[in-house]
Amino acid sequence: MHSSENEYVIEMRDIVKTFPGTKALDRVSLKLRKGEIHALIGENGAGKSTLMNVLTGQFYCDSGEVYMEGKPIRFSSPKEALKKNIVLVPQELNLIPEASVAENIFLGNEVGKGLINWKLAEQEAERLLQILEVKVDVSQPVKNLSAAYQQLVSIARALAYHPKVLILDEPTAVLTNKETESLFRSMQELKKGGTAMVFISHHLDEIMEQCDRITIMKDGCLVKEVPVSEITKDQMINLMAGKEVKKTQRVKRQVSEEVFLEAQHLTRKGEFEDVNFRIRKGEILCVAGLVGAGRTEIFKCVFGITEKEPGGKILIEGKEVPIKSPIDAINQGMGYVSEERRHDGITPSMSVMENMLLPSYDKLKKHGLIDWKQAADLTEEYIKSFKIKTASRETLIKNLSGGNQQKVIVARWMAKGIKMLILDEPTRGIDVNAKGEIHQLIRELADNGVSVVVISSEMEEVLALADRIMVVHRGRISGYLDDVDLVTQEDVLKVAFQ
Ligand SMILES: Nc1ncnc2c1ncn2[C@@H]1O[C@H](COP(=O)(O)OP(=O)(O)OP(=O)(O)O)[C@@H](O)[C@H]1O
Ligand SMILES: [Mg+2]
Repeated sequence: MHSSENEYVIEMRDIVKTFPGTKALDRVSLKLRKGEIHALIGENGAGKSTLMNVLTGQFYCDSGEVYMEGKPIRFSSPKEALKKNIVLVPQELNLIPEASVAENIFLGNEVGKGLINWKLAEQEAERLLQILEVKVDVSQPVKNLSAAYQQLVSIARALAYHPKVLILDEPTAVLTNKETESLFRSMQELKKGGTAMVFISHHLDEIMEQCDRITIMKDGCLVKEVPVSEITKDQMINLMAGKEVKKTQRVKRQVSEEVFLEAQHLTRKGEFEDVNFRIRKGEILCVAGLVGAGRTEIFKCVFGITEKEPGGKILIEGKEVPIKSPIDAINQGMGYVSEERRHDGITPSMSVMENMLLPSYDKLKKHGLIDWKQAADLTEEYIKSFKIKTASRETLIKNLSGGNQQKVIVARWMAKGIKMLILDEPTRGIDVNAKGEIHQLIRELADNGVSVVVISSEMEEVLALADRIMVVHRGRISGYLDDVDLVTQEDVLKVAFQ
């Protein structure tokens, strides 16, 4: 027996995992202590989720060992890991939409088997959600809840297994500030109870605040393991990237005076009221506001996903156009990247190329046939410029890391050649470096005359990108900030609340 027996709850040693065409993990080690919050960071595709999937029995590794409290373990399914109280909250939500909140929390839970009595199960579900400071009716279908609340339900389900080891794979990507804080409070409580946690996030500030130690990965390799107190944010970024990283700088842009789209009196009862705005050609309009202010709803309506009430109008280049469905919007030259890539973004069982070119096939047709050579070239071009990590363009998109899937969806509309693009939280789940690259691509798009709407809850992103900021509060436009160079975060908040 070696001395680490009591020191570490989990020790992963020299883990290797290959997928066809990709060495996802190359002799990676991870040591988890009891009662610590351990950050796992790295760029999109670095291997973070894969490492955690090996730990929880989702994948076998090709070689390497895992020890729990000093004893070797090897799980052949997530069920076996759960029996040892090792619980993963996956990066992609996997709830059953039609089932109730309580059912989602307890379905398949051996521990909860005794709870045939659903009344008891519901009470227990409420209690678990309370730990996360969530109060909802647990008998309603989970699909009624916002993405943020669904994420918290998925964490509550993990808590029902009394985790000794709790793995949270990018839990905060869909959470608002308030919910993030609740989650952090619960994590600190779990920590006191001795639970070891692995926390995966691209938000380095969160990591600095909440975590004890950090493991940094790059291209499937371990780069460094270090206590948070001994590293700075810049050092983390440089280690993840393997090079010195330039800060993304705000760029002052010239925008034409020509208006592309004008919205007049858009209303949907209960969502937003009398919304009027204009967006110019080549302008980057950032839409700020609190989560739930109605930003997503407004632009779903502009894109024809939802219907506007009578009296509302959309004008394109000065002429009123009927937009009754997304097809109409696409025909008018618009594109839309939803904040929910899991639901309405990717087609999982299609290739990277198919997912990227889906709306562009028309453009790629020659005499009625798709020009596959051109399609392949175009795909390769975007894989390169977006630095999409994929074995090939034929790889199924579901086999890409979360952040790389997001890049494919953003590239999709750029490939189509559009006149206006609506992006809802485009860099969610995207690593710090790639974020800067996507910002650059958005600017290039705008430089080519495309009007870009960016809905973002990240103030830094808004301030870096916007030519103009539109602030939405409680379903109304509460103001604009024109001279973004002089704007601070406080200014935006002031407008939001006035
Ligand atoms: N099921 C799979 N089949 C083939 N390749 C895979 C599969 N799962 C992951 N990969 C590949 O393994 C590598 C690591 O992916 P992983 O999902 O672990 O990255 P990650 O660090 O979690 O990234 P992100 O921050 O984007 O979530 C990627 O190149 C990915 O394409
Ligand atoms: Mg991942």
